[in-house]
Amino acid sequence: MNIIFYHPFFAAQDWLVGMTQRLPQAHIRAWQPGDNDRADYALVWRPPYEMLANRGDLKGIFALGAGVDAILEQERQHPGTLPTGVPLVRLEDSGMAQQMQEYALACVLRYFRRFDEYHVLQQQQRWLPLVPHQQSDFTIGILGAGVLGKSVAQKLVEFGFKVRCWSRSAKQINGVQSFAGNAQQAAFLHDTRLLINLLPNTPETQGILNQQLFAQLIPGAYLLNLARGAHLVENDLLQALEQGQIAAATLDVFGQEPLPQAHPFWCHPRVSITPHISAITLPEQAMNQIAANILALEAGGPPTGLVDMQRGY
Ligand code: NAP
Ligand code: GLV
Repeated sequence: MNIIFYHPFFAAQDWLVGMTQRLPQAHIRAWQPGDNDRADYALVWRPPYEMLANRGDLKGIFALGAGVDAILEQERQHPGTLPTGVPLVRLEDSGMAQQMQEYALACVLRYFRRFDEYHVLQQQQRWLPLVPHQQSDFTIGILGAGVLGKSVAQKLVEFGFKVRCWSRSAKQINGVQSFAGNAQQAAFLHDTRLLINLLPNTPETQGILNQQLFAQLIPGAYLLNLARGAHLVENDLLQALEQGQIAAATLDVFGQEPLPQAHPFWCHPRVSITPHISAITLPEQAMNQIAANILALEAGGPPTGLVDMQRGY
């Protein structure tokens, strides 16, 4: 079995060693431009177009992350990049759900307990107790109720928050109010005080975080964008912050990464930034999942995390 590996910044050697330990029968190599030798499986993150093009020999393509938008975008730009019928498999949780819970909970508590405002007051050397927010009027809405959205919802429920989620299909998650489809989007947004985005980036969800959506939230709402920069219309957020419709935002993902030096988000007093780290790929857990999925495919069974090419996630 031959496996090719490409990641723009992961150390390939660690993956070659780790995958060989898990699949001793496999020969795994770091893909280099010009390498057209046989490959049964490809492990990729933002692969160059030539890596996957014309590879009719592939039996499976494994994304080294949860989102497959970059791979599917290549297929849109270069139709035929993804060999027809070859399963595209993504990482499902593999240690990302807990990271996302930690990140979301930290931000929620920061805004709910007004630590962001106390930080400003400290800088002004002002001793000023603020009126506490009440959980009863601090409803948290989560866009996306998949592996990560559901897990974040469950953690926030544990902390006593009122949580609702919005997805394509209705969900049953203990303590979480479910809204589904475009028909229920307005009802979901209405009463939401803090919005967390955990949608996949697809043609339907691009630009969903826009002025029209912000206007439907409770005035002075908070925004966490933890999914993809393409979801957010950046100028609409700047305007909503200016108008007070959005009180503050935490952004982990951006239209252009790294965020350009001159970008207004860097110095905005009510925007917090992290460099796309809310849930990173943990190599050991990712390799366990991928190796198990390769064995499942070899045995003729379905892998976990199979991407629906029509839906785009
Ligand atoms: P997932 O399991 O595929 O869940 C996606 C959710 O979004 C599902 O609930 C789905 O609804 C819903 N959805 C998709 N399209 C929709 C639409 N048009 N309208 C309404 N709901 C829609 O994905 P995941 O594993 O939770 O990951 C979500 C995203 O997080 C990834 O795609 C990735 O972009 C991002 N991510 C970011 C980081 C980071 O470090 N910042 C790390 C990991 C992942 P159904 O359940 O009804 O299908
Ligand atoms: C990271 O952004 C991922 O999709 O895994």
